[in-house]
Amino acid sequence: MPTDFFALDGRVIPAAEATVSVLDLGFLRGVGAFETLRTYADGLPHLLGEHLRRIWESAAAFGLAPFFGESEVRRLISEIHRRSGHGELRVNLIVTPGENTSGVFGAERPTWVMIAREVHAPPAELYEQGVTAVTFAATRHLPTLKTTSYLVGKTGLLLADQLGAHEAFYVDPAGYVTEGVTSNLLVVRGGRVMTPVKDCLPGITKAGLRPVAEAAGLAWYECNLTCDDVYTADEVWITSAVRELLPVVQVDDRTIAQGVVGPWAKRLRPLYHQRCIAEARRDAAAAAAAAG
Ligand SMILES: Cc1ncc(COP(=O)(O)O)c(C=O)c1O
Repeated sequence: MPTDFFALDGRVIPAAEATVSVLDLGFLRGVGAFETLRTYADGLPHLLGEHLRRIWESAAAFGLAPFFGESEVRRLISEIHRRSGHGELRVNLIVTPGENTSGVFGAERPTWVMIAREVHAPPAELYEQGVTAVTFAATRHLPTLKTTSYLVGKTGLLLADQLGAHEAFYVDPAGYVTEGVTSNLLVVRGGRVMTPVKDCLPGITKAGLRPVAEAAGLAWYECNLTCDDVYTADEVWITSAVRELLPVVQVDDRTIAQGVVGPWAKRLRPLYHQRCIAEARRDAAAAAAAAG
């Protein structure tokens, strides 16, 4: 029977024992950064180095300097994978300034948590049929960073829930659709992928999809997108570490193209998945070689 193990401050412990103080500034003030990644090829983390680079970039916004490294995280993931009995893992890394010890923001020792559970990618039907999304007028605070504050996003997801949609897209005050609450947004039009890069998270999945799309013959354009650009696209996709590339067939009350998953999404998704497996193996081999 698989069992969840998490890591707290670099120590693997049973999930039920992984608790954080109520005085933690992540809880008290919403100060924190996090990453979500997954494993492939039997427990090998995908692009761990990229995810660590991004978590430290996000944590720098609240003054936290890197205090653990890739080999340590790789070792923890490997131990959790072995002890838990899970197949592939979805790994969340969370860092906060730690327990509040003085004043409003004073803390002495940062908190570092790893939550690792069986990965649950969306069921195959969602990839075959596509999902729906809604737009909502809002701006994510510090949108190029991956902070733990999803309050604004939650308002969009409440709307999505009410309308039975999978994702909600932020629309900024200028009328541009920037990204999803938990994903990046891409559209295909006339043989080109178009995706915003302003005021959104520089997605690791999106970056990895680019060479796959270009090798398959799509051009790649980074540009602002209006709601109309999205509504009238040939294909709309969202990307994130767990979902990889998920096609969207309806946005608000508008059907995208024919309302069915487009040919590019069908073609690229398995190619991207294979690339992830190869990258996870490549990085594991490089880490093993570096460790001697
Ligand atoms: C706001 C936001 N944008 C984009 C993404 C996708 O990023 P990645 O592909 O690195 O998982 C996420 C992932 O959680 C996200 O929260």
